[in-house]
Amino acid sequence: MPTKILMVCLGNICRSPLAEGILQSKLPKDKFIVDSAGTGGWHAGEKPDKRSIEIAKNRGLNITNQRARQFKVSDFDTFDYIYVMDMSNYKNVLALSQNDNHKQKVKLILNELFPNENVEVPDPYYGGQDGFEQVYDMLDKACDVIVEKLKK
Ligand code: 4NP
Repeated sequence: MPTKILMVCLGNICRSPLAEGILQSKLPKDKFIVDSAGTGGWHAGEKPDKRSIEIAKNRGLNITNQRARQFKVSDFDTFDYIYVMDMSNYKNVLALSQNDNHKQKVKLILNELFPNENVEVPDPYYGGQDGFEQVYDMLDKACDVIVEKLKK
């Protein structure tokens, strides 16, 4: 059975599509499934934000096949690890959890890089392309740590 990892943000069009694409590119496809979702459903069915597509393309990743979807309670059972981008996502996801097993799966992604510091991946939606570049770099570093852990 492949290990399954879910990346979660608010809209599932800016941050978590990048996190999905980055982590997927670093792991063997036969052993790992990486997906993403948003705690909100407003953008369900949409492609990632143009600015996420652009930064990914500049770094050699094609994320245009992704489509946004809303996080659902069954994701707690489907996925082994659930990485959220910020504390708001964390609270919203935990509010849907039904037991301790669910809760234990949810982690703030930058705590992989900066343990226990609760650093957030800022929402780049209302800013410019530079915000997306910063988000990409943070996620890339965090995903390197996640890969090292998953391969052990
Ligand atoms: P994301 O960014 O959570 O990184 O996908 C956002 C995308 C859309 C909205 C907010 C954040 N929105 O309010 O529509």
